[in-house]
Amino acid sequence: METPEIAGMRTIHEIGSHAAAGFPVSVNPLRRSQPLQSLPITPRGYPYPYHAKEMHMPQPRILFVIGSLRKGSFNQRLADVAAKHLDGRAEISTLDYRDLPQFDQGEEFPAPPSIADAREQVSQADAVWIFTPEYNYSYPGTLKNLLDWLSRPLDPTFQDKTTVLTGKKVALTSAAGKSAGAGVRGKLTEILDFLKSDLLGRQVGIVLPGEAFVTGEYEPSADDVKAVELQADELLDSIGK
Ligand SMILES: Cc1cc2nc3c(=O)[nH]c(=O)nc-3n(C[C@H](O)[C@H](O)[C@H](O)COP(=O)(O)O)c2cc1C
Repeated sequence: METPEIAGMRTIHEIGSHAAAGFPVSVNPLRRSQPLQSLPITPRGYPYPYHAKEMHMPQPRILFVIGSLRKGSFNQRLADVAAKHLDGRAEISTLDYRDLPQFDQGEEFPAPPSIADAREQVSQADAVWIFTPEYNYSYPGTLKNLLDWLSRPLDPTFQDKTTVLTGKKVALTSAAGKSAGAGVRGKLTEILDFLKSDLLGRQVGIVLPGEAFVTGEYEPSADDVKAVELQADELLDSIGK
C-alpha cells in the first residue's frame, strides 16, 4: 500500500501495528536519528524517541539572580532552598554580576565583555529567578544596574528592539522586613512588564524573623520553605519542562 505523506507528517501505517487505525502521527524529521521503519514502538504506538521517558531530554536551565551581594545573604539562603528542591529537575546556575561596570550609554556598542557574558547567560536560560532584598521600599541599585544593561537591544541600529529579557520567564522572590518586599517586587514587576518579560504570577514575599537580624542567621520556617517550593514547581511547569 502506498504511504500517504504530508510535509513532516507520516501515517502510523509506517511505524507498524496501528496501520488499520490510520491516525496520523506527527514526526519531526530533524529529531529522527534512524529510519522510522526500524524504530521500536511504545505500547501507545509512538516510536521510542518520542516517548518522554526514553528521551534524554535536557533539563531546563534556571538562572538565579541574587539581589544582595552580602555574604550570608538571607535571600541567598532562600535561593539555596529553591535549588535543593529543583535538584535533578533543573540545571541551576547563579549569575555573578558583582563586578559589572556602572551602566554607561556611551559604552553600549560593543558591550563590555562582562556585559556580553551576562546577557549570554540570561539568553541561554529558560527562566530567570530573582531573589532580592528590599532597599527603601525599592530595588537594590546593583540589581537595577544589571537590569539596565540587560534591557538594551542587541542591535546597534535599534531596528530590532528585542532584548535578552523580552519574553523571558522571570520569577520574583523577596526576603525583607515587615513589608515582605512588597515594594521591591512591585517595582520590579513594573520594570519587567515594561520590558515585556513573562512574569510568573506567583511571587513569594517573606517577612524575615527579627532574630535573624540579631544573630545574622536565618533558618527558613516550614511555611517559608513550602512557599518557595510551590513557586519552584510552578516555575518549572510554566516553562513546560
Ligand atoms: C539600605 C537598606 C534599606 C533597606 N530598606 C528596607 C525596606 O525598605 N524594607 C524592608 O523590608 N527592609 C529593608 N531593609 C532590610 C533588608 O531587607 C534586610 O536587611 C534583608 O535581610 C537584606 O537581604 P539579604 O539578607 O539578602 O542581604 C533595608 C536594608 C538596607 C541595607
